[in-house]
This record gives sequence, structure tokens and C-alpha cells, in this order.
Amino acid sequence: MAEHDDAASWRSDEGIAAWLSTSGDREARRVHQRRLMAELLGFADDDPFVVVDLGAGTGAAARAVLDRYPRSSAVLVDFSRQMADAGRRALEPYEGRFRYVEHDLAGGGAWPDGVPDHVDAVITSLVLHHLSGSRQQQLLAEVLGRLTPGGWFLDLDLLEAGDALVDEAWSRTADRLDPGALAERQRRHERHGSLQLTPLDRQLALLREAGFAAVDVYWKQLDTAILGGRRPAA
Ligand SMILES: C[S@@+](CC[C@H](N)C(=O)[O-])C[C@H]1O[C@@H](n2cnc3c(N)ncnc32)[C@H](O)[C@@H]1O
Repeated sequence: MAEHDDAASWRSDEGIAAWLSTSGDREARRVHQRRLMAELLGFADDDPFVVVDLGAGTGAAARAVLDRYPRSSAVLVDFSRQMADAGRRALEPYEGRFRYVEHDLAGGGAWPDGVPDHVDAVITSLVLHHLSGSRQQQLLAEVLGRLTPGGWFLDLDLLEAGDALVDEAWSRTADRLDPGALAERQRRHERHGSLQLTPLDRQLALLREAGFAAVDVYWKQLDTAILGGRRPAA
């Protein structure tokens, strides 16, 4: 399936309904990672700051930040009107602390006016593997350019094993820990075709090459990791 079909699936009522119908289970499994990402941002409890969530979907990653820091607000970037509509409903309790901005991250054009020129933190979750490798690289440079000095960029995403035996171990173990994980993986591939998964070493190299400091794998289990770094302090 081509990138075009992947994009279409995020903008079709059917594709979104399929994704939303399983999101409760997925989020129940990700509570720890969501909280960890919010803690890693390292703000004080009452700091007022703006976080940008790239490919925010219904705002699962941003919601963890809004919960953790009561004076924070979120700009949720996504190209899917259907996702944004579902997200506005899910985020009703946070009214006044978030806004959606429609933007295609694959396009490479200027960021829309709705995203501030300087942002305190950028997060993204399960999105970068929908972009080509070269676009991921450009996007990291764009993120670095927007971040205030010391600001964090954190990415929860899927990894490419880069080795058939490792891939087999990941699939087998994921399915043992969580029966149905393998079927979910297969469904994901059917829905979105060939995803642009990147091996861990390459992802870390891309972050360093872009100029991020404090680059690390902050959490990892099998094929899923939280990676990131911060803009060097001025
Ligand atoms: C797997 S969902 C993840 C949603 C959310 N970040 C989460 O963790 O629950 C992928 C999201 O990325 C969005 N997306 C995919 N390609 C995109 C693109 N080129 N530009 C903007 N958003 C995109 C989709 O619309 C969808 O909301």
C-alpha cells in the first residue's frame, strides 16, 4: 500500500472508526509510557507552557501532559479532520487549554500560523513511521528550530528490528505477553501498508545529527520506544 493510501486511511470515516474502536485497549496498555513522557518534560508543577503534539490524533499524548501540568496548554497538529473532531470531543474536559491545527507533516511546507514560532516542548506518538525517512530528518530540524533553548522533543514510536531473529523474538514475545498483539500488528500493516519503520540506532543518529542534546532511549519494550533529546541551552 502506498503512502497515499496510508494518508487516505487517516482521513476516512471507516479508517478512523476502526482505529478508535481499539483505542481504549491500546491506551490502557500505554498509561505508563504516557506518564513517563510527561514527566520527562521536566517542568515544575505550576509552569505555564505550550506543548506541540505532532500527529496528535485524539490527543492521548497531549492529555497526559495537560493532566500532569495544570497550567500547560497544547497545540495539536494533525491532517485529519475526522481525528480532530473526535479529539475535540475527547478533550472537552480541557476546554480552553488546547487547539487543533490542521497541517500535513509529510508536505514539508512552512508550519501553519496556528503553531507558535517558539514552543517549550514538542511530543509525537506513533506518527513518524508514517513519514518518509528524508521527511523525518527534515522534521527533526524543523522541531529543533522551533524549540526554546533547553526544550524537549520526545517521540514514542515503533522500531524496525533490522534483523529477522530479533523481529521474530519481538513478535513472539509481544503475542505471549498480550494475546492478540500479533493480530493487531498484522491489521496495522494491512491498513497502512509498508510503514517507514527505522532501526533504533538510526533514529538516535538522526536526533544527534539534527543537533539535539541529551539524546537517549528513555524507555523501550520490544518494538516500541520513547526516544528524544533537548535543544541545547543557549
Ligand atoms: C497512530 S495515530 C496516533 C495518534 C496519537 N498521536 C496517539 O498516539 O494516539 C497517527 C496519527 O497521525 C496522523 N497523521 C498521519 N500522517 C500524518 C501527516 N502526514 N500529517 C499530519 N498528521 C498525520 C493521523 O491522522 C493520526 O491521527
